[in-house]
Amino acid sequence: MATEITDQLNRPIRDLRISLTDRCQFRCQYCLPAEHVDVMRQHSKPENHLSFQEIHAITSAFARLGVEKVRLTGGEPLLRKNLHELISNIKQINGIKEVALTTNGALLDPVLDELIAAGLDRITISMDAIDQQLFEQMTGTRYQVSDIINTINRCADSDLKKVKVNCVLQKGINEHQVMPLLQLFRGTGVEVRFIEFMDVGNINGWQQQQVLESHQVLQQIADKWPHQALPASHPGEVANRHRFTDGQGEFGLISSISEPFCLDCNRARLSAQGEVYTCLFGQQGHPVRALSKLPDELFDRLSTIWQQRSDRYSMDRKQQRKTAGKKIEMFVIGG
Ligand code: GTP
Ligand code: 5AD
Ligand code: SF4
Ligand code: SF4
Repeated sequence: MATEITDQLNRPIRDLRISLTDRCQFRCQYCLPAEHVDVMRQHSKPENHLSFQEIHAITSAFARLGVEKVRLTGGEPLLRKNLHELISNIKQINGIKEVALTTNGALLDPVLDELIAAGLDRITISMDAIDQQLFEQMTGTRYQVSDIINTINRCADSDLKKVKVNCVLQKGINEHQVMPLLQLFRGTGVEVRFIEFMDVGNINGWQQQQVLESHQVLQQIADKWPHQALPASHPGEVANRHRFTDGQGEFGLISSISEPFCLDCNRARLSAQGEVYTCLFGQQGHPVRALSKLPDELFDRLSTIWQQRSDRYSMDRKQQRKTAGKKIEMFVIGG
């Protein structure tokens, strides 16, 4: 049985997002722009990444505090080898109900079957454009969109419980990709989610005027495909989901800028170097690696970290109460 704890805003902990590496082979402008790649190189020390044993130990302690869902992320998590071993070990932890993966999808195809066989429940793949030229411009890579789409379709036909596609929208860059992306995945069971461009980290040059707010996206979609809002499927759900009224599936909107969802935020994040962050916009992590062989001390430490938590960055930003400080980068702690 997990010990029920809550933070300063009475929020329980349910969701642990584990960054397996702070490296990525993509150079998405909104996360790790090519001109700032030295920031990643200076920060990243792959030899210091948590081992699978350490991750297992830390996840077990989090499970005792109430974590039920684990999401593996990065950087790009598939840069780590033998991920299936980690997945099957995490699945055996008492209290963990689901393991999900967030990936850019480029390295997924050859390992998909072994990840599913190991017990992976759900997968989210980032895709900001289906136009090849725009995809290359946005990701700074030459991967073929068609290959990644084929992989997404394989995921949709597999035993995975859920397959989602994440699209970060930036005004003037990829807003015209909303309809083609939906057209491509309508009727396939894949849920496309449109994410408002966020001010994570310090190097993506975020400006409010580049944010395409979700209500504008909704309008664009409604003009072609009527839809209706769905109730949240679980407390603290990040996306507002909508269903097409013609029965061709669902899509989601993640509106951290226009409609912050901090009051339900039950997510903790573990960096690849063993620091716990209690907010995506955190400035300082709590190092816990040294306790990974001391389960009771680790449990107490995590418990204290959570109970002291009072993060509500996105709400403060909206109310213009936040000053700019040096924040952790997205490629360090994942989405
Ligand atoms: P599930 O609930 O497991 O389906 O996961 P998710 O929808 O949270 O997963 P995913 O990693 O795809 O997250 C989608 C995006 O939502 C992330 O990439 C972030 O851009 C954003 N997001 C997720 N969690 C938070 C959060 O706590 N705060 C903010 N501001 N944005 C978040
Ligand atoms: N704003 C919104 N979403 C972002 N992601 C990365 N950087 C940002 C940002 N600045 C998303 C990615 C991926 C997920 C892990 O986080 O597109 O889907
Ligand atoms: Fe892009 Fe994800 Fe890599 Fe960041 S971590 S550069 S969002 S693929
Ligand atoms: Fe949670 Fe921080 Fe995101 Fe708010 S801004 S939802 S507190 S991670």
